[in-house]
Amino acid sequence: MEKIVSLCKRRGFIFQSSEIYGGLNGLWDYGPLGVELKRNLKNYWWQVTVHERDDVVGMDGSILTHPAVLKASGHVEGFSDPMIDCRTCKAHLRADQLVEKKGVKQCPNCGGKDLTAPRQFNLMFETQVGAAADESSIAYLRPETAQSIFVQFKNILEVSRKKLPFGIAQIGKAFRNEINPRNFTFRSREFEQMELEYFCRPEQGMELLEYWKEERLKFYENIGIPRNKLHVLTVPDDERAFYSKGTYDIEYDFPFGRQELEGVAYRTDYDLSQHQKASGKSLEYFDEEAKQRFVPHVVEPSAGVERTVLALICEAYSEDQAPDEKGKMETRIVLRFRPRIAPIKCGVFPLLKNNPQLVGKAKEIVSRLRPQMTVFYDESGAIGRRYRRQDEIGTPFGVTVDFETLGEKDPALRDTVTLRDRDSMKQERVTIQDLPAILRDRVV
Ligand code: GAP
Repeated sequence: MEKIVSLCKRRGFIFQSSEIYGGLNGLWDYGPLGVELKRNLKNYWWQVTVHERDDVVGMDGSILTHPAVLKASGHVEGFSDPMIDCRTCKAHLRADQLVEKKGVKQCPNCGGKDLTAPRQFNLMFETQVGAAADESSIAYLRPETAQSIFVQFKNILEVSRKKLPFGIAQIGKAFRNEINPRNFTFRSREFEQMELEYFCRPEQGMELLEYWKEERLKFYENIGIPRNKLHVLTVPDDERAFYSKGTYDIEYDFPFGRQELEGVAYRTDYDLSQHQKASGKSLEYFDEEAKQRFVPHVVEPSAGVERTVLALICEAYSEDQAPDEKGKMETRIVLRFRPRIAPIKCGVFPLLKNNPQLVGKAKEIVSRLRPQMTVFYDESGAIGRRYRRQDEIGTPFGVTVDFETLGEKDPALRDTVTLRDRDSMKQERVTIQDLPAILRDRVV
């Protein structure tokens, strides 16, 4: 993890929020490469969850949420973790983070045994909307994106004219005042969720729970997280939300242990029924064929953007041996991202920066490729160094413009370049003409 955290900072994936002021715990800023990685992940999720399906539509709800919504959903009363304070080092701890030695609970930071009794700590951030600072102006930063989907269910049903089963998808920020943020970005106080609420008839719920678990496993494999590093935990009855008839956690083997990436839950008709009761507005669905009116049930795959980004970086990180400029083997750090996820798809390098013809050709290639993909132009330093810099940020392809491109050695090679593969380090010669199509085919 130390190597990964250091690489993330050094190369501009992830920085601590407000770092120059000492940082704000549990909050992170994504740099130039981190934001590309996040976008690629979210775009791919949106593509397969919404664009490639006939039965899912999207929405984008507000973050500030009416307290009535979160009262009805149970968050105001019950969205809390048991908190314990260590009287020795003053740490605030989640009850499940205590360590037990010889049957005695201890503080994991200082080993202190003088601990307070557990008390419930609500994880929601409360704020005030408008000028009046009283009870009536309270609003919350949403702790999950799901509730705005439930609350807009009727509007979206009407405008989209979908029939059951169908889903509403959303990607957006969620906020939780986690007692103890930890493991780099894994548990943060501000994060993004990619959530789908898939509405169905009650008798379809269990089957769709299985279906969505499998779809989500396929998704992770398609972004480069192999099946053998993913684990499906069936959440036991006593740990499941009381309204859920079945929940799976999809877990990943992080360097700090096996941890949850995503939850896939069959939430029954709990949420819609609660909002129907509290708002007094019907959230029923009318099944024209069966001539039945009922509150739909829902299956929810809910994934975290930052956790998946962290898993992608952990999975991609590797070190191997590669020859340096003089042919001596050295350790190479390489992020083996799938091309579709990689922040930069292609590096373009003129062999020499002081040769206007080489530079001109290289810049021409950059302009041709840029409308289709992210490209990094680099003319500084030895070519081997430039390859290493791109390997370290996971750029899958490198294009070098050399004297053969100018036709100086062999006129038949005029307007060809070398195309280097990050993983095999093999190089092939391709024409500039063919390059955009070749790369387009491989950036998947
Ligand atoms: N709507 C259901 C829901 O919010 P959850 O299991 O509490 O369920 C879903 O959250 C996902 O959101 C988690 O699997 C995780 O990927 C992400 N997530 C939750 N809390 C997080 C946190 N504090 N930091 C980063 N990601 C978090």
